[in-house]
Amino acid sequence: MLLEAGHELLVFDDFSNSSPIALDRVRELAGPAAAPRLQQMQGDIRNPKDLEQAFTKAPSGIDAVIHFAGLKAVGESVQHPMHYWDVNVNGSRCLLEAMQTHGCHTLVFSSSASLYGYPEAVPIPETAPIAPINPYGHTKAAVEQMLSDLHASSPDSWRIDCLRYFNPVGAHPSGRIGENPLGIPNNLYPFVSQVAVGRKSQLQVFGGDWPTSDGTGVRDYIHVMDLADGHLAALDCLLAEEPQLLTLNLGSGQGQSVLEMVQAMEAASGCSIPYAITDRRPGDAAISVADPSKAAQRLGWRTQRGLKEICRDGWAWQQQNPDGYT
Ligand code: UFG
Repeated sequence: MLLEAGHELLVFDDFSNSSPIALDRVRELAGPAAAPRLQQMQGDIRNPKDLEQAFTKAPSGIDAVIHFAGLKAVGESVQHPMHYWDVNVNGSRCLLEAMQTHGCHTLVFSSSASLYGYPEAVPIPETAPIAPINPYGHTKAAVEQMLSDLHASSPDSWRIDCLRYFNPVGAHPSGRIGENPLGIPNNLYPFVSQVAVGRKSQLQVFGGDWPTSDGTGVRDYIHVMDLADGHLAALDCLLAEEPQLLTLNLGSGQGQSVLEMVQAMEAASGCSIPYAITDRRPGDAAISVADPSKAAQRLGWRTQRGLKEICRDGWAWQQQNPDGYT
């Protein structure tokens, strides 16, 4: 989408949980005219030398950074908290220092609804208390605090968006690029897709006695293409307006249960998805749904795609790439 909008891009990635093949496919989707505007470099945001190389690679400098580099598995963060603090918090600190050094003061940061913890009320507005319940969420909250302190130190220069994602799912509608988690997926959507395609035999539904319509957990699933639209809108807003720190939920405002997701994927794939209801997963909330009205008001952005499109596009990806990018 950034290429389609005419931007010049440098993708900086350590490829620890991603594949350079995904970028080849982005070039293919963008077409031969746009593809040369995408450069890539392998590096680690914790390594100042790598960052220095990135910031000097672009001939006319870097105008803005969209910061997606981080670890995102809740369970893993409980087992390896120091690794999460190192990559997510120390990595962000290194990146911000490099940005300062090079006079780049525009940043879109991938934050997370996980910093709301167990929400007091749904839908959740941005003003809800910050109360993470796992190390992953704590690291996102810490980076938001760092960004707030940095913005306060120089409010006339910094333009910062903190985008609090709800549950991103789905894939590019071409089926060429999509999510390919390493090992056993711990999130619902990739697991459901892998059961549909026959890579896993059965889904475990974590709890059938939640206070929800069908007893299973309810989340705000957002199509990854809507999420991408949200980033473009956020970047355009930052570049057009006065320097500011803007914090926004990116979600649909609609809740869907685990069983609704299973049914939608069965309809999209034509495959049956066997499941068993098991105990609740420790640390889960019953319901997490965004109040997305601030993003609508500030960016004119709303989700355009529902569960049907999410499962249609995710299934196209899963079916065409049953083993991911290998
Ligand atoms: N679930 C199952 N079976 C599974 C996996 C999940 O029943 O195998 C259920 C969960 O109990 C929950 C729902 O499906 O009710 C969604 O679970 P996910 O793991 O897909 O997503 P979470 O809402 O727990 O967490 C996700 C991301 C976090 C992020 C959070 C809020 O994993 O990184 O959304 O943004 F912080």
